[in-house]
Amino acid sequence: MTDKTNAAYGGLSRLNHWLGALLFGGMLIVGFILSYDVLSREAAGPVRDLHKATGTLLLLFAFWRVGWRMVQGFPPPVPGVPAWQDTASRLVHWGMLAALIAMPLSGVLMSLLGGRPINFFDLFLIPPIAENKEACRCPGC
Ligand code: HEM
Ligand code: HEM
Repeated sequence: MTDKTNAAYGGLSRLNHWLGALLFGGMLIVGFILSYDVLSREAAGPVRDLHKATGTLLLLFAFWRVGWRMVQGFPPPVPGVPAWQDTASRLVHWGMLAALIAMPLSGVLMSLLGGRPINFFDLFLIPPIAENKEACRCPGC
């Protein structure tokens, strides 16, 4: 299946883009709400668990999203666009795609390497990869 034309991204690419924009944008907002102590300690716990579980799910989504772009490639440049602009746009696009993976991956690593498990929507726990050596004062528990 070819999910692009000579002039535009195809339907699935667009769905990926806007679903991703919505979910990543939501994660950003919830992340800042958590970090700036807007919520009480009790209220923050379940929201943090949800942030971590959704973020972990988004890591899988990011792999799919970037994989689909690698398989499909980008629509060709608009005729008449100078080569340097085409190169610049490719670099920026690949940078954004890399960030799509780096963002949730850094969250998962922060949690697991910090000795904290990820509660995946109360279905199962992803165990930490490192021990938490200190008495836990961190906001991530
Ligand atoms: C209102 C918000 C947004 C607008 C208006 C927007 C618009 C665009 C446009 C115009 C392009 C270039 C398409 C082309 O090459 O012709 C693009 C590409 C892209 N955008 Fe967004 N975007 C938004 C939000 C986001 C968010 C939040 C993310 C990431 C979470 C994102 C990730 C990407 C990526 C990775 C590309 C590269 C092309 C691809 O593989 O999809 N965008 N966006
Ligand atoms: C789409 C992916 C993600 C985005 C956009 C995102 C965004 C954010 C942002 C903006 C913050 C606030 C950072 C600060 O101000 O210092 C934050 C905090 C945090 N994130 Fe994420 N995050 C994502 C994925 C994850 C994942 C996958 C995990 C763990 C599995 C995670 C765990 C945390 C934790 C523990 C905090 C600290 C919360 C607190 O202070 O109580 N995030 N996130």
